[in-house]
Amino acid sequence: MARIAVVPGDGIGREVIDEGVRVLAALQPELSMEWFDLGADKYLAEGVTMPEGLMDRWRDEFDCIYLGALGDPRVPNNVHAVDILLGARFQLDLYINLRPIQLLDARYCPLKEKKPEDIDIMVFRENTEGLYTGIGGQFKRGTPDEVAIEAEMNSRKGVERIIRAAFEYAQTHGKQRVCMSDKSNAMRHGHDLWQRVFREVASEYSSIDAHHYFVDVLAMELVRCPEQFEVIVTNNLFGDIVTDLGAVLQGGIGLAGSGNINPGKVSLFEPVHGSAPTIAGQGVANPLAAILTAAMMLEYLGHPGDAKRVHAAVADCLRSDLITPELGGTLSTAEVGDAVLSRL
Ligand code: IPM
Ligand code: MN
Repeated sequence: MARIAVVPGDGIGREVIDEGVRVLAALQPELSMEWFDLGADKYLAEGVTMPEGLMDRWRDEFDCIYLGALGDPRVPNNVHAVDILLGARFQLDLYINLRPIQLLDARYCPLKEKKPEDIDIMVFRENTEGLYTGIGGQFKRGTPDEVAIEAEMNSRKGVERIIRAAFEYAQTHGKQRVCMSDKSNAMRHGHDLWQRVFREVASEYSSIDAHHYFVDVLAMELVRCPEQFEVIVTNNLFGDIVTDLGAVLQGGIGLAGSGNINPGKVSLFEPVHGSAPTIAGQGVANPLAAILTAAMMLEYLGHPGDAKRVHAAVADCLRSDLITPELGGTLSTAEVGDAVLSRL
């Protein structure tokens, strides 16, 4: 049976992960779960972000990591979050950041007259390179002449595998269209590589329409006409930005789940939202993003039927106004969890 490393993390991460774990345990009682108490408290008490050897244990002994959120205003620059989350993405080579943008209930969409079938997009965000590697440096720091360089790293291997993953997904899920987004009109080295690799890989998938938008146009088109998108593939930073925009299209960051995936290897699943320190501990955080994230994990573990059931249960809660205050409801985090469970 699959083994899950559960990392509630900071702030509302702890509250929402409890609800996701209840859903997992209800659907797959055999799953083995081990809890890891990582996060700001541990870092502030012990100075440890990621204990020695833990990443290797996750790699060798687990199928999935289920993470709540990391981030705490008491930790300068959130070094613990960078070490744990970006550490896992790089060290476990979680090269696909899979972020669905799926409208479950029309009432929560900020765009006029959009129905669930109009907004159903899968974003493939590159997750191991781009502007996130920390390559660069500072020169004459703290002086009037200082210079800071942040280099964007794009490898052929990295670009090719994320683009290929997007086409493979399209082909196996009956999607007709893949849109690649870059800024190759201004970034002429790295994004020229994206252009060339995109055309090469696309030529192997002749039945799929390979489309391209510069990322500024993509942002506009996502708002103007989201129906045109089925699969989007883009680099690390652009994917970060457009999936927050996408989260709002589907009803808010409280409904957005994600997977950080290395196919066939240990993979990490987390809601897109953060630790929300201002509402932490009050029992009002929306657990639906964590629950939809649990559904993605179940799908990854080979239980697509369970994932569909969770989606239907969440959609029914939204339809019935069984929701937390930020969506206009009156229920607590645990009461929304109860509502989902009773529908399962
Ligand atoms: C996300 C987050 C992270 C990212 C931060 C916390 C480094 O915004 O998962 O989207 O930019 O990838
Ligand atoms: Mn983000």
